Amino acid sequence: MVRYMFFLALFAISISASSEGERLYMSKGCYGCHGTYGEGIGDYPKLAGREIDELADRLHALQRGIGHTSKRDMMIPFAKSLHESEIEAIAKYLSFQQPDISEDESLETPEEILGGSDM
Ligand code: HEC
Repeated sequence: MVRYMFFLALFAISISASSEGERLYMSKGCYGCHGTYGEGIGDYPKLAGREIDELADRLHALQRGIGHTSKRDMMIPFAKSLHESEIEAIAKYLSFQQPDISEDESLETPEEILGGSDM
């Protein structure tokens, strides 16, 4: 029981730390390309539920103009607009998001777009 309370407290702390991230994610318009919960839209990558470090690393790379796809030029100004503390807050927020994308058929994974799925 004590152990359970401990994890509950940790969880509550994580949630409050991520609400600043949520505010930034919405006010900076990130949701317009990556989805309300970071679930990803079409070619725009899914961010929800990914590792905090990975998300922060990707944003740092984009700030230096390094991206993965031909659409990176859209993302670079958004990455550059973020301060270090904002990157941290947003990465935390996104890594705690767990949208159940299987229930929304309008969402496509990169594999589906590239025709690589075995449907
Ligand atoms: C105009 C559309 C658009 C907006 C708005 C946008 N992004 Fe992106 N984002 C992209 C695209 C396109 C990529 C893929 C970039 C690449 O080629 O590596 C991307 C990539 C990313 C990545 C790296 C994901 C990966 O798998 O490499 C992160 C993290 C990210 N965006 C976070 C954000 C945040 C935080 C915001 C708001 C401050 C934001 N994005 C706003 C289009 C957008």
